Amino acid sequence: MIKHLVSMGVTLAGGLVLAACSPQTSLPVVPTVTAAAAASQAEPGSLRAAAEACGLVIGAAVRTDPILNDSQYQAVVSSEFSSITTENALKFRTLSAQPGEYNFQDADTIVNFAREHGMRVHGHTLVWHKSLPDWLTAESFTPDELVLLLERHIGTVVGRYRGQVSTWDVVNEAIDSEGKLRESIWRQALGDDYIAQAFRLAHDADPAAQLFYTDYDMEFAGVKSDAIYELVRSLVEAGVPINGVGFQLHLRLDHLPDMDVMQANMQRLTALGLQVQITEMDVRVQDVNGTPAEKLSRQAAVYGDMMRVCLQTSGCSAVNTWGFTDAYTWIPDYTGKPDMPLLFDTAYTPKPAYTALQAQLAACHNQN
Ligand code: XIL
Repeated sequence: MIKHLVSMGVTLAGGLVLAACSPQTSLPVVPTVTAAAAASQAEPGSLRAAAEACGLVIGAAVRTDPILNDSQYQAVVSSEFSSITTENALKFRTLSAQPGEYNFQDADTIVNFAREHGMRVHGHTLVWHKSLPDWLTAESFTPDELVLLLERHIGTVVGRYRGQVSTWDVVNEAIDSEGKLRESIWRQALGDDYIAQAFRLAHDADPAAQLFYTDYDMEFAGVKSDAIYELVRSLVEAGVPINGVGFQLHLRLDHLPDMDVMQANMQRLTALGLQVQITEMDVRVQDVNGTPAEKLSRQAAVYGDMMRVCLQTSGCSAVNTWGFTDAYTWIPDYTGKPDMPLLFDTAYTPKPAYTALQAQLAACHNQN
């Protein structure tokens, strides 16, 4: 019934018309990148080649501007990584400036780049309480209208990139620090079942895509990581099409997780038959004292530890960083202070953190 209404075009409060999507740009449908195709593009000695030899996807979030305009950025990301995550290009706010309109230009740029370089695309994110368009938060829609909007959003976006975006962050950050379901317009409209609904809608739009729940602070013990475990356990039990859980891992040197806890939190999820991934790793160094070299060395140890735990956890399928060069990172804007949280410096020179990942991946080769 709802699908029928959407395809017919339905007028909502504020004059919003829900119509079948008419994208502003078109994209040819191509087969999903296979591991073999991706492997053929990996340069010997690169992180990408080392990860592929360990059966691991190694990814980084990217921005549209440097993907278009910075040749060094393009060269490094395509030679060092087998996957790219859309940092902002697939957020609802980026896609839809006006009610009923979608602009896929930024997302197409990234998806096309990935295809040209034999890389996977990790789509971020379909359902989140943040990065919503102003028109959506400013208007007060009825629950029925919000159901239609969610249906249309997931169907349009996942459907457009069917076969091209292989993994999706379907629901992001739904649990708060007290372990409770966070308030959001989606929860108000659909009730607690909005999470299951989102996964079903994404699965309908692309049955082959791998669907993830993602959140932060899951590396720690406590009510939040326990609540996330219970949430995904109940989804699995109910037969909801969820394939995995993403640990964001926006870490800071003055507040690091215990690695045994991290591993246990991953393992209880893989015991449910789910994959786990590291989806947004960065390690900020601004909050500790020490020389830059000392900070970078401590940072490298954290990257190495996380890679080791992933490699030791059967079912940990990818390590993705949130950016890859300190030239483009969200941390200074977010914290108001300079930082150097990623694997390459601002001149694209590999940092000790990069070497630490390579060392862990080399150890995996030796074990095989
Ligand atoms: C951040 C982007 O990196 C910034 O460019 C943007 O201004 C705000 O969002 N967790 C998430 C990501 O799931 O979507 C956030 O990305 C970082 C925290």
